[in-house]
Amino acid sequence: MKQSKLDKLLLRMTQEEKLAQVFQLAACCYEEDFVPDFTGPMRDIQVDDTLKKTAGTVIGILEPEQMLRLQKLCASGPNRIPALFMLDVIHGFKTIFPIPLGLASSWDPELMRRTCRIAAREARASGIHATFAPMVDLVRDPRWGRVMESTGEDPYLNSVFAKAAVKGFQGNGVGEKDSLASCVKHLAAYGAAEAGREYNTVDMSRGMLRDMYLDSYRAAVEAGCRLVMTAFNTVERVPATCNKWLLETVLRKEWGFDGVVITDWNSMNELIAHSVAEDGGEAARKALEAGVDIDMMSGHYLFDLGGEIEKDSALQPLLDQAVMRILKLKNEMGLFEDPSRGTDPELARSLCSSEEHRLTALEAAQRSMVLLKNEEILPLKQGCKLTVAGTMAGQRDLLGGWSIMGNPEDGISLIDALKAGGAALSIPGTGWTDKEEVCRLAKQSEVTLLACGEPAEETAEANSKTALRLKAPDMELLRALKAQGSRVVLLVFSGRALVLSDAEPLCSAILQAWFPGTEAGHAIADILFGIEQPEGKLTVSFPYAEGQLPIYYNCFRTGRPKLPEKAGDKYVSHYTDCPNEPLYPFGFGLSYTSYEYSALKLSGSILRPSETLEVRVRVKNTGARAGTEIVQMYVWDTCGSIVRPVKQLRGFTSLKLHPGEEKEAVFTLTEEDLMFWDNEECRKAEPGRFIVMAGPDSQRLLEQEFYFSLT
Ligand code: BGC
Repeated sequence: MKQSKLDKLLLRMTQEEKLAQVFQLAACCYEEDFVPDFTGPMRDIQVDDTLKKTAGTVIGILEPEQMLRLQKLCASGPNRIPALFMLDVIHGFKTIFPIPLGLASSWDPELMRRTCRIAAREARASGIHATFAPMVDLVRDPRWGRVMESTGEDPYLNSVFAKAAVKGFQGNGVGEKDSLASCVKHLAAYGAAEAGREYNTVDMSRGMLRDMYLDSYRAAVEAGCRLVMTAFNTVERVPATCNKWLLETVLRKEWGFDGVVITDWNSMNELIAHSVAEDGGEAARKALEAGVDIDMMSGHYLFDLGGEIEKDSALQPLLDQAVMRILKLKNEMGLFEDPSRGTDPELARSLCSSEEHRLTALEAAQRSMVLLKNEEILPLKQGCKLTVAGTMAGQRDLLGGWSIMGNPEDGISLIDALKAGGAALSIPGTGWTDKEEVCRLAKQSEVTLLACGEPAEETAEANSKTALRLKAPDMELLRALKAQGSRVVLLVFSGRALVLSDAEPLCSAILQAWFPGTEAGHAIADILFGIEQPEGKLTVSFPYAEGQLPIYYNCFRTGRPKLPEKAGDKYVSHYTDCPNEPLYPFGFGLSYTSYEYSALKLSGSILRPSETLEVRVRVKNTGARAGTEIVQMYVWDTCGSIVRPVKQLRGFTSLKLHPGEEKEAVFTLTEEDLMFWDNEECRKAEPGRFIVMAGPDSQRLLEQEFYFSLT
């Protein structure tokens, strides 16, 4: 449809239709026997036929037939405006991939793109138009349950993954029949909730916000995402949902975003609880003035905005603008010509969980796993005598949180997978954590596999925790097994970095499996038996103790840094009862082979604007097995006008190496890599001395200095 036609359509729409257009209704509200059970004032909503025919967007349809039915209803509305159907398609639709934190551990943006492409194809055929993904919030605190949905603690990596995910969901553009419009979330800094407590206050300097937190959202916008979701939290003491600086100055003006802004669930109503709005009317007005186009489930646009506009006609053009943005997106997706475009129940059935998609799920699951410790026990020998126990051993759901459409039964269970993998398996018949029985079986086995961690329902939204250690029954088993000399492999399922410092000395190996998705069972068996090897690396620091939180590698030095030459000095920044360092640092991960790094070289000692420096480092496979090593490059600005992090990831690459083979990893440094935001909100690189570092993780690094000069 041409723009002139959209303009005419807007002119034809009544105020009621416009207010319904900027409102998002839950799909369940369309059902005859529906009993509201949501957070917020929508609990009391009366959904009449007119609203059903005119609601602009719908959240949460679960099957294509339902979408086709609802779209027919809209076609009988006054202006026959199709609805846009949205759902949280986070790490897969029916075929479930590892949780985003696991996918990120592959350090492979192309893998992220491929998984999102598959999710888009399955979901679009099933009647979904837009997904509330990717979540690109930077997270430094695993107490926050939603860290599972993020790609970790690094702004550079988060940006790379943000772009890849948007490209995957949107494919060649949202006009394609097999694409989803991507909604990046949650603008901004939702991952920085104080003390890791869900929905808590966020407060930080603007420099920190810009340097660390905003880049990943900007990357998604640059990649063309068509929607942006506002965060629940405050940004500079103003809730994101009515934050004009964020939504107008930064998002619209600076980044040039011309798509649709949607609130998070009921966050417009929460402006009242945040105490920046007296009532629903004021909340709606503030959100509209800040640039919010769609109200997800608070009802304040639908019920209260009309009254506000009657009091202040200056709001009318803002409402019209919001409606137009929504109409444009629908138009871009070709929905005016064909409201059911892309929806095809037959195709959906053939695509969902297809053999091809499951193969990618298997690959993604294998590549998401991170080997944290291995005292020559993994891979397990074929036919090895194995006891399996632990709180997670019998867990059928290894899909992880935010896998709405996934079915755990689509996958093979851990036990069946291990049996199929060729282990001579012993299983405690009296319960997965029956100490006596497990110890008895372990005595007759070569290895005990302890499946532990946290169940999926303890992760994702509204699952903040203060205790991040293994469960008491698993620790008891570990202690008893260690005492009798049994060798234990820990298989850890979690949606966050757990505290493994108590468990680490008691076991011989630790495999961090996250939540691997539909192909969990096969992937774990392949890795344990060495058919594939673990090659993932952490994108979050694993704390030594909860008291260290938040913990992240790209921190400041402080005025009294704890340096090796100051060992034993009391008056330095340190804990008296715990190291400063994490148990496992950002970027860390072992494999079944080993690598040696040498000869870090720069192509010159001075970098100038518009020039480049080449960074080269040699990596040798010193083990007996071929492998792929993720090589990382960091930069430190040693002195500047403001304090800079001790290191920042600026590049990474993967090298495939046969045993004994040596190759060079090559990176290019430009002025861009040295840039930061100063306190005047200016992004720049300052001349001076820098250190470039390269290595296998954020701690074991080779170093070289260079200078940046403006002349
Ligand atoms: C979450 C969002 C999600 C939305 C819709 C909210 O509670 O914070 O991330 O997209 O619900 O399901």
